[in-house]
Amino acid sequence: MERLKILIASQIHHSAIDWLKDQFDVVCAFNAPEDILQKNITGSKILIFRSGVQITGDVMKSAPELRLIIRAGSGVDNLDMNYVKRHKELRLIRIPGPGARAVAEMSFAFMLAMSRNLIKADNLTRQGKWAKHMLEGYLLKGKVLGIVGTGNIGSHVGHLGNLWGMKVIGCIEASSHPENILLEEYGIEQKSFEEVLSRSDYLSIHVPLTPGTKNLINRESLALMKPNSYLINLARGGVVDEQALYEALTRKNGLRAAALDVHESEGDNKISPLAKLENVILTPHIGAMTIDSQFEIGQEIIKHVKQFVDQYK
Ligand code: MLT
Repeated sequence: MERLKILIASQIHHSAIDWLKDQFDVVCAFNAPEDILQKNITGSKILIFRSGVQITGDVMKSAPELRLIIRAGSGVDNLDMNYVKRHKELRLIRIPGPGARAVAEMSFAFMLAMSRNLIKADNLTRQGKWAKHMLEGYLLKGKVLGIVGTGNIGSHVGHLGNLWGMKVIGCIEASSHPENILLEEYGIEQKSFEEVLSRSDYLSIHVPLTPGTKNLINRESLALMKPNSYLINLARGGVVDEQALYEALTRKNGLRAAALDVHESEGDNKISPLAKLENVILTPHIGAMTIDSQFEIGQEIIKHVKQFVDQYK
């Protein structure tokens, strides 16, 4: 009998790849360009991907037998959603849960690293410089944590902030049904976007990239932010105008520091202009990269593939 074909277009947990390879005809084309994906997807019923690859309409069109698309994570900004909506035979499954906790913890890693000058402290200590008195930092306790996008990930960040003794405020697009999320229980007060920006000591961004959020954090919004506040972007690069952020980080009474896990331009040899600044931490889109979360996502993928196969038996 012909084995079901699956295209895996991004690196997922090895346990899931091994399991899928045992049962099915699996082709791996991690982060491949469009033409390679078009060749590799032919005959596939299932496509699995995460960020770092573009799943265009032309890619999906190359596999008329495609039925199930599994987004091994949250964002769908790299998937042609118009194509998916037009093709009723396609089922899209996202697995946003396991990565959310990891991203939320990463927001705290950034807050702590910036507040306690950890990168600078490490660099100086390695050079034999005992700079104890140059490295005073700030407590998180008692500070205002503002969350732009109190959805799945943002609400976790707010919950942790509350437990850390921070005053947590946040905002979310009205269409995102904030009532479904336990914002009150998590101690997150809903405010306007402008109020969140102007009151926050730490601003953590957690909105998806859509035409409405493109450059949401721009020159005007950065001008609303408190002097010496901190900005964290774990959402998508396009949400923050990096040129405007550069200016906000270098002007008098601007931001004290920023930490970005996501960038306007991502991948090998793409160096952000922000890399010139000492008050910036840059990481390569690793928010959801905990072994625990990726293993859990892998297990969810296996579950969904099993369900799909059972339906077609
Ligand atoms: C996500 O949207 O889930 C994250 O960006 C993680 C990823 O897919 O790499």
